[in-house]
Formats: sequence, structure tokens, C-alpha cells
Amino acid sequence: MHATSPGNALAAALTHSILASSFGSACAFIIHTSQTSVPRSHCCCATQISIGGIDINDDFGMQLHVNLQKMRDDLLSNPSKLKPIKQQHESNDVDDEELSPDALVQETLLSSRLPLKLNRTRVADSNLPDAGRGLFATQDIAKGELITCYPGDALLCEYKEDITDEEELFQDDESEVILWGDHVDSNDIVEDDEVFDGTDDTSAPLVSYAATVNDVYSVMGMPSLDYDPAYYGHFANDGGGHIALEGVDEAMGVEEMLALYVEKSIEVANARHVPLGGYGGLHLGTVAIKDIKKGDEILVTYGPEYWMDLNF
Ligand SMILES: *[C@@H]1O[C@H](CO)[C@@H](O)[C@H](O)[C@H]1NC(C)=O
Repeated sequence: MHATSPGNALAAALTHSILASSFGSACAFIIHTSQTSVPRSHCCCATQISIGGIDINDDFGMQLHVNLQKMRDDLLSNPSKLKPIKQQHESNDVDDEELSPDALVQETLLSSRLPLKLNRTRVADSNLPDAGRGLFATQDIAKGELITCYPGDALLCEYKEDITDEEELFQDDESEVILWGDHVDSNDIVEDDEVFDGTDDTSAPLVSYAATVNDVYSVMGMPSLDYDPAYYGHFANDGGGHIALEGVDEAMGVEEMLALYVEKSIEVANARHVPLGGYGGLHLGTVAIKDIKKGDEILVTYGPEYWMDLNF
């Protein structure tokens, strides 16, 4: 299923060596396997971290956070490992003089699927009207626990250029680049305009599976890549989405509809996508913001802008 490119082998070697080296046998990285849970008391680091107002309080989430930083250090001290992402920039005619090692590392980690044994969810038909597939908890998940990660199968980069020259003020001050993860089969890679507009045989463009990491980066998960429950973030629906989708009828103006949407969406949301690893986000995690029961649908808030862009 997956093409083996040099980059792929590299990513695998990198993640395996780092994951293996940073987890001793006393504190296995595998906390939740299919049915069983490793008792938390066997694990280290009981402190809690807070990211963007969300308290992450499970060992798995915290370890991922810390390990992303270790992987970052490793990549920074081994510049040859940044070659795959550099090559993509070159094929996009981006002047790599302008790309800092920090940015290349961040892009490499955001666009990677790491071998995580995180299996707390499954994908099934959504409970929401006209929402297609949705994401469901296969076990109780406590507030603050990492549910899954949002994959960066494709990474949308919106570089802001410094505008120092007055004359350039009227020129395009943003350059947009799409970078593909090494794990994505070359047959699945599409042209940029297809990412934005979709094709006849795909109902939604890939950008409708985008989640914002920060000002520059958004991760896009491919709906066809549904093999790993550690990367199911792109299947979480917005519980208010149907209100936004119905759009504006005669009785309701746009503002009223959006207010109704926001109210519903926030009321039912039980998870949020949170950038992990620091440094502006090295991975996007989906974290429980309420206690979630086994069988519950995982719901996040996409925000009014998402629906405005899609519908109006
Ligand atoms: C995840 O857990 C389910 C049981 O809940 C199991 O059937 C499935 O094979 C597991 N998937 C992976 C990738 O480990």
C-alpha cells in the first residue's frame, strides 16, 4: 500500500530509534492497546501540561509532547534527514535559502505519521445528519486525555513574507505551498488546484479536511487513509455543522444562523485539536475537553470561518 521512498525509510528509522530509545521497558509508550490498558502507576511523569488552555493529563499525551521535542532535536542535529522536505520545496521552486532548519523540522514532523500505539477510537457512520463518517470512542476517555492525532498527510503552508518595500505592498504577500507526507502513496498525491477545488470523483476537496496548527501551517488528513486509529483526527465531525450546512433560510439571517451554529457546536463539542510538541506545534493532537463514554461520537468545533468558506 505504501510506496517505499528513501524518505519513508528514513522517517521509519528515525521514529523507531527515537521511540525505542526514549521509552524504557518500565514505561512503555504503549499505554492503550486494543482492549487492555497499561496501569498508569507503572508509568512515569504524572505532572500535567497545559497547552492553549487545555490541560493534558495523560501519560501518553505528555510523552508524545516530550518525544516530539526529542525528535526535533534529533532532526536539527542531523540535517541530512531534512532532505525529503527540502526536495519538495525545490520542486515547488521555493528558494531553500529562505527556509530555516527550524521550519524544515517542523514541516517534517507535522507531515509525518509516527508509529504510535494509540487506539481509542473507531470510524463509523456519524450520528449527525448528512455528515458521512464520524469518529467514536471505543473506550471511556477522561477529560485531558489524548484521543487521537490529526494526520498531516498534506501540509498547507502559508508563508507570510516580510513586506519592507512599499512598492511590494500591493503584491501578493503570501505564498502557499503544499507539502506531502512521505507515507502518502505517490498515486494519492494530487495537484495543488485539486487540493483546493476537489475533483469530479471526490465529493470534497482536501482542504475541507484541513485543521489549523498555527498562523502558517494547517494539516490535511486524507479520508482514504483510515488504517491507523492513532491518526483519526480528520474524522471528528462538528456537532453544529448541520446547522451551518442548512444555511440561511428566509426566517434567519447569516449572523443569526452563525450564532445558532456556534452555540450548538460548542455545547456538544467534547474534544479539541491542540498543537503538541511546542515550537508552534510539531503535531496536532485531538484532546478530550469533557469526559467521554465508550461509544460516544467525538465532536470538535470547526469554527464559523470553516463553514463560511465552504458555503457562502
Ligand atoms: C484497535 O482496537 C480494535 C479493538 O477495539 C481492534 O479490533 C483493532 O485491530 C485495533 N487496531 C489497531 C490498528 O491496533
